[in-house]
Amino acid sequence: MNDAIDFDRYDRIRPIRWTGEALELLDQRKLPFAVDYVRCDDSDAVAAAIHALTVRGAPAIGIAAAWGVVLAARDIDAADGAQALAAVESAMQRLNAARPTAVNLAWALARMRRVLAAAGADWREVLNREAQAIADEDLAANRRMGALGAALIVPGSGVLTHCNTGSLATAGFGTALGVIRAGVAQGRIAQVFAGETRPWLQGARLTVWELEQDGIAPTLIADSAAAHLMKTGKVGWVIVGADRICANGDTANKIGTYQLAISARHHGVKFMVAAPSSTVDMATASGDLIEIEERDPGELFSVGGARTAAERVGAWNPVFDVTPHELIDAIVTERGVIERPDAVAMKAAFGG
Ligand code: MRU
Repeated sequence: MNDAIDFDRYDRIRPIRWTGEALELLDQRKLPFAVDYVRCDDSDAVAAAIHALTVRGAPAIGIAAAWGVVLAARDIDAADGAQALAAVESAMQRLNAARPTAVNLAWALARMRRVLAAAGADWREVLNREAQAIADEDLAANRRMGALGAALIVPGSGVLTHCNTGSLATAGFGTALGVIRAGVAQGRIAQVFAGETRPWLQGARLTVWELEQDGIAPTLIADSAAAHLMKTGKVGWVIVGADRICANGDTANKIGTYQLAISARHHGVKFMVAAPSSTVDMATASGDLIEIEERDPGELFSVGGARTAAERVGAWNPVFDVTPHELIDAIVTERGVIERPDAVAMKAAFGG
């Protein structure tokens, strides 16, 4: 088996472009029918784009927020980083408030805050460099994770993924979708199933489109077909990303992930979480403490703009859930693989 991955073929989509003056975001609300970039000239436009899911996916919103800080600082006059930080603090708080569950957003802002606080007169360059480093490190982490995760997969396997964890959700290549890309490239994965991911349809609209760009033909399933698929024996692994991984290994990810993990365990299917270390939150002890974003119930009333529910019905729309660590077979980060994660294994890998 040739384990080398042709990144020119398998890593072509870039959802976030920094022009030197503005941030361009591939508008994920319009995919797969239009490939349009939205231009953000200030940090509040970036915060609004994160909230509206123009840009989405845990690592991608962290990267976008980092460039948002650069934009917030653009018209500021400051003698050093500490002065600049005071001037951008409220813009940083608005960026941080754009979405609550993915820790990568707060993590990227904390990195920007830290370097700015320590910077001297060259604070503007320092800020630019840090935003670029956050993006570059994410891409490198994804490529590394792809190789580590794929190595766990027996050649010829089928896999099921959820939501969109690909280039669109990251600096490039993807987390869970990076593992899947690597697995396909190495001949380990023979068939990829993608769940639709109601209500926003990240699977149907984004994952399927992304894989097709690479020449990988995925099989789309209704979310409600997942347990039945597992029962057929066609998948050996469920492979998902994460928005926050706690100190005990509990993992928040797109709503529906938890029921996939329960179903996987019942059917003897393995369950893998692939995420960069920027998604690990050792300050949060367990999944019960994670704030779960709830979005407009209106997302449940229609599909593609066409109303599907009767008028005046009520709805509840939590968009993430928590998979307890006991249901996870492997957490894959760029630092390595943690099998059967728990608080002890997480501490050994990530410290206190
Ligand atoms: O609401 P979204 O689309 O931002 O949710 C994204 C997910 O849940 C992804 O699975 C997660 O961020 C990992 S992406 C590499």
